[in-house]
Parts: sequence; C-alpha cells; structure tokens
Amino acid sequence: MQIFPRSLNKLPLVVAGGAGFGLVAVVFLIWYYFSPWFTQVGYAPKQPVPYSHRLHVGELGLDCRYCHVNVERAPLAMVPPTETCMNCHQLVKTDSQELQPIRDSWQTGKPMEWARIHKLPDYVYFDHSVHVTGGVGCASCHGRIDQMERVRMEKPLSMGWCLECHRDVKEKQGDSAFIRPVSEMTNMAFVHTDHVDPPRKLNPPENCAGCHR
Ligand code: HEC
Ligand code: HEC
Ligand code: HEC
Ligand code: HEC
Ligand code: HEC
Repeated sequence: MQIFPRSLNKLPLVVAGGAGFGLVAVVFLIWYYFSPWFTQVGYAPKQPVPYSHRLHVGELGLDCRYCHVNVERAPLAMVPPTETCMNCHQLVKTDSQELQPIRDSWQTGKPMEWARIHKLPDYVYFDHSVHVTGGVGCASCHGRIDQMERVRMEKPLSMGWCLECHRDVKEKQGDSAFIRPVSEMTNMAFVHTDHVDPPRKLNPPENCAGCHR
C-alpha cells in the first residue's frame, strides 16, 4: 500500500535541484553586480579603425575640441565625421591599410560606425557643456585619454560616482580637487594644487529631479 504516488519519488531530487539553481542564481547576481561588465570600467571595444588618441593627442598635440567640437556648447561631445580625419589623411598616410575604411566612408558618404563606449541609461540627463564650462576637465571623467591607444572606460558612470563629485564641489567650490580653471579643461596633465576661482557659484544637483528629468 503506497501513501504517496510513485511520481513523488523524484520530489527530493527536484527540491535539491531547485536549491542548487537558486544558489547558482545568487552567485551569478553577485558576480554580475561586481564584475566590470556591470560597472563597465575597463570597457574598451575594438573600433573599425585603430584610431589612437595617444598618437593624435599625446604626440601630435591635437586639442580635444578639434574633433569633439560640441563639448563646450551642447549635451553631447560628438564623435567627429570622416571629413575631420580627411583634413589630414588626404595627404598623410594615403596608402595605409588601416585607413581604408575611412577612405571608403569618404568616397561613399556612409558615416563610420564607431563603437560607443560611454553611455548613460536614457532616464539620466547629462550635459557636457555645463560641466566643462563649470571647470570640470575631461580627464576627471575620462582619465588620461592622451595615453590611450584604444579608448577605455575609466570611471563607473554610476549614480554614486556622479554624486560624490557633486557633493564635494558644492561644499568646497574652488577648493574641490575636481575644479580647475576653464582654460585647462582639455589639459590632460593638469593637477589641482591650489584654490581656483570657479567661473560662477557652482550648484551641482543632488536632488533626484536634477538628473532624472
Ligand atoms: C583627431 C580627432 C580626435 C581628437 C583630437 C580627440 N578625439 Fe576623442 N575620439 C575620436 C574618435 C574618432 C573617437 C571614436 C573612436 C574611438 O573611440 O577611438 C573618439 C572617442 C572618444 C571618447 C569615447 C567616446 C565614446 O564612445 O564613449 C572619448 C571619451 C574621447 N574621444 C575623448 C577625447 C578627449 C578627452 C580628447 C582630448 C584629450 C580627444 N578625445 C581628442 C577622435 C578624436
Ligand atoms: C591634424 C592631422 C590629423 C588628423 C585630423 C587625423 N590624423 Fe590620423 N594621423 C596623422 C598623422 C601625422 C599620422 C601619422 C603619424 C606617423 O607618421 O606615424 C596619423 C596616423 C593615423 C593612423 C595610423 C596609420 C598607419 O598606417 O600607421 C590612423 C589609423 C589614423 N591616423 C586615423 C585617424 C582618424 C580615424 C582620424 C579622424 C578621427 C584621424 N586620423 C585624424 C594626422 C592626423
Ligand atoms: C563630468 C564628467 C564628464 C566630463 C567633464 C566630460 N565627459 Fe565626456 N562623457 C561623460 C559621460 C557621463 C558620457 C556619456 C554621456 C551619455 O551617455 O549621455 C560622456 C561621453 C563622451 C563622449 C561620447 C558621447 C558623446 O557625448 O558624444 C565623448 C566623445 C566625450 N564624452 C568626450 C569628452 C571630452 C572631449 C571632454 C572634455 C572637453 C569630456 N568628454 C568631458 C562624462 C564627462
Ligand atoms: C568631477 C565632478 C563631476 C562629476 C563626476 C559629475 N558632475 Fe555633474 N556637475 C558638476 C559641476 C561642477 C556642475 C556645474 C554646477 C553649476 O554650474 O552650478 C554639474 C552640474 C550638473 C547638472 C546640472 C546641469 C544643468 O543643466 O542644470 C547635471 C544634471 C549633472 N551635473 C549631472 C551629472 C551626472 C548625471 C553625472 C554622472 C554621470 C555627473 N553630473 C557627474 C560636477 C560633476
Ligand atoms: C547627479 C546625478 C543623479 C542624481 C542627483 C540622482 N541620480 Fe539616480 N541615477 C543617476 C545615474 C547616472 C544613474 C545610472 C546608474 C547606472 O547606470 O549604473 C542613476 C540610476 C538611478 C536608478 C536606477 C538604479 C539602478 O540600479 O538601475 C534609480 C532608481 C535612481 N537613480 C533613483 C534616484 C533617486 C530616488 C534620486 C534622488 C534621491 C536620484 N536617483 C538622484 C544619477 C543621479
């Protein structure tokens, strides 16, 4: 005489399996949360052309604004169009294999598809111009771009990271290590050593609606 139907014989196995799966799920979530894929620090995708900031900025000395023309006046900094590269590459390295996709894009008029590296979720509002005209340099948020052969994400772009600077600046104004003279915005080697007169009284938002509009 059986009290339980035969089909329940497998129950302990199913329960054990479920617990195992639960454990795996927890481990996965912890690993995912702390891994660089989540924060994306270190993210450095391969680009269609191995464009080097180390060469063009570090060695040739081009200013960021030569290519990222909108950075002082608009929310987006903008990655340059093919024309900007061809200003020089119509004359320099004209038979370079690495530059073939640029020449193709120039001939066909089809824009280059650069892989996007820094990207905030749509529900976050961010504006470059407010930051750079307020005295925050590119290097504070993007690191030593002038030393990068391939651009790599240096900071987590997390809410905590934004707020850490906003609090510090609001409290210390021109004594905050994050503030520099506006004329130094693209200087990669600048180090804050002394008080800086900020261009205006700085009031970076800490309230939710400041960044989630
Ligand atoms: C000659 C043009 C040129 C100059 C000068 C230049 N860049 Fe760039 N930049 C590019 C191109 C092209 C890309 C897209 C390909 C890549 O990521 O390498 C890019 C990408 C970037 C990105 C990553 C964009 C993304 O997808 O998130 C950052 C950040 C950046 N540049 C910052 C700077 C800074 C800071 C300077 C000055 C120190 C600078 N760039 C100077 C052409 C330039
Ligand atoms: C102000 C001039 C100038 C601009 C603008 C410029 N480059 Fe260059 N680029 C150079 C010079 C000069 C070299 C060669 C350095 C050398 O002799 O090795 C070079 C080298 C390169 C190389 C290496 C080629 C090889 O075969 O060694 C690549 C790739 C390249 N540039 C991509 C780009 C891209 C993409 C852009 C546009 C976003 C761009 N460059 C804009 C001046 C420029
Ligand atoms: C306060 C931090 C901060 C500063 C300062 C800053 N950036 Fe950015 N940058 C970001 C963030 C955040 C993103 C992603 C924006 C998004 O997804 O809307 C980004 C994206 C970019 C991009 C790619 C997307 C775009 O906006 O077109 C480029 C190029 C770039 N920055 C260049 C620069 C340059 C050049 C400077 C200095 C003149 C600079 N940034 C200063 C935080 C900063
Ligand atoms: C290194 C310092 C620093 C970091 C990092 C930083 N900010 Fe700011 N933020 C500032 C300063 C300085 C201002 C200018 C305040 C002013 O002009 O009153 C500002 C202003 C702002 C404003 C107000 C703009 C306006 O139009 O009113 C917004 C929104 C903002 N930041 C969003 C962000 C977000 C989102 C991030 C993170 C992805 C971020 N910030 C990271 C320093 C920083
Ligand atoms: C200085 C800018 C800034 C302020 C102020 C701010 N946030 Fe955010 N918030 C962000 C950024 C940037 C992200 C995206 C983080 C990411 O992608 O890792 C974010 C993400 C979030 C998320 C999604 C969290 C997640 O893990 O996906 C929530 C919810 C949120 N914020 C709520 C708030 C609330 C509530 C406040 C007010 C107490 C607030 N935020 C104030 C910049 C800000």
